Amino acid sequence: MRAVDLARRHETRLLAASRPAFPALLTLGRIARPIRRIPGLGWVVGDPATMRRILTDRGHFTIVGEGVVGHLWARVLGDWVYDMFDGAGHHALRKTTRDLFTEDRAAALVSRAAGPRLRRFTADLVAGATVDVADLARVVVGRIVADLLGLPIGRSDRSRARPDDDPAYRGIFDTGTALAALAAGTTTSARVPERTVVAGRTVVARMTSEVAAGWRDAPDDTLLGRCRELGLGLRETEGLAALLVVAGTQTTASAMARTVALLHDTGQQGRLRADPGRVADAVREGLRVTTPVPVIGRSVTADVVIAGRRLRAGQRVLMLTHTANNAYGGFDLDRVSPADTRPLWFGAGNHFCLGAPVGRAELSALLTALLAAGRPWRIAGRRYGSRTLIPAYDRLRIVLA
Ligand code: HEM
Repeated sequence: MRAVDLARRHETRLLAASRPAFPALLTLGRIARPIRRIPGLGWVVGDPATMRRILTDRGHFTIVGEGVVGHLWARVLGDWVYDMFDGAGHHALRKTTRDLFTEDRAAALVSRAAGPRLRRFTADLVAGATVDVADLARVVVGRIVADLLGLPIGRSDRSRARPDDDPAYRGIFDTGTALAALAAGTTTSARVPERTVVAGRTVVARMTSEVAAGWRDAPDDTLLGRCRELGLGLRETEGLAALLVVAGTQTTASAMARTVALLHDTGQQGRLRADPGRVADAVREGLRVTTPVPVIGRSVTADVVIAGRRLRAGQRVLMLTHTANNAYGGFDLDRVSPADTRPLWFGAGNHFCLGAPVGRAELSALLTALLAAGRPWRIAGRRYGSRTLIPAYDRLRIVLA
């Protein structure tokens, strides 16, 4: 089998394992260009320019309407979400936190919070161990959000990140997964059932039990400190912290393990090992091909004509970003992504991923640690995650060849 077909086969199986309808939905995207109404689903968009047009139109579309995920958070966390997600509060929050999410700060964060653990990863590989990269990725993303939120996990001093607290960080990831699982049910139905709301509140309370102390004492140059500065109460800050865990963990962990698999399956790891300066290309291609958020939803707030079709207030729009990003072909270090998809894997418009530099830095740090092992790797075993909101490997065991 050709390397590119092998890589595609694994990716397709991984998508199907996460939700059996995914491959069909994403294929549908190819005939939904630019936009098409599908009974039971709403408007489906498969064309990158139309997606960008919708994602940047704040006058006609919202992230918090019924049937899109923001609506669930509003039910779980409270009505303040409407303002904080799509109103003046959202604008203020983005403005106040912008300088916390620069490339430099992201690199420093990843080095501080995950550097020691990734060095142990390299050493384990060199010593001949088989390492589960999917599990490592979950631990690394747990470390990053714990640091961002100042959660005192397994240590009293943030400056002394120990490389051996894996179970505690897996715990953070698992809580994020539990909350995201609730969201999975609401992307296909317009109403959020009461039991989902109750379950969501329980998970948020568990997840944010440590946030209160940070909110009171956190320095001004931390995320919680900025929330306090902005006048957000503890309840709102806890809600935002929970959302950050959901947004920043599964997405990044998914991209990390899948990119390691893609480099192996396409046979392109040799080229990357020969020229580690191309890690940024591998990161970009990994994000394009995996597109960890394969579908972005919006709700129509006022009638609008898009690509000649009239969309009515209250209707739902699903943007199949995975289809759009993959229309240009498989993983290829030499591919220059066309301007219309770049970097649609992080969304577009006012909700463009706040943590994009952090996600990129995490992926880059993992690949750098892998290359530092100095020899090619092979995959000793893999298992796709079953019924997950974000398609991901449950297990990806690698060993040096
Ligand atoms: C490779 C990893 C990641 C991918 C592919 C990704 C993807 C996305 C996408 C597509 C959106 C837009 C969703 C929409 O418009 O409905 C988004 C929003 C967001 N992401 Fe990420 N993300 C990643 C990592 C992260 C990380 C590491 C963090 C935090 C540390 C983060 C925090 C956020 C936040 C807070 C938002 C909401 C922004 C807003 O509404 O203003 N993400 N992400």
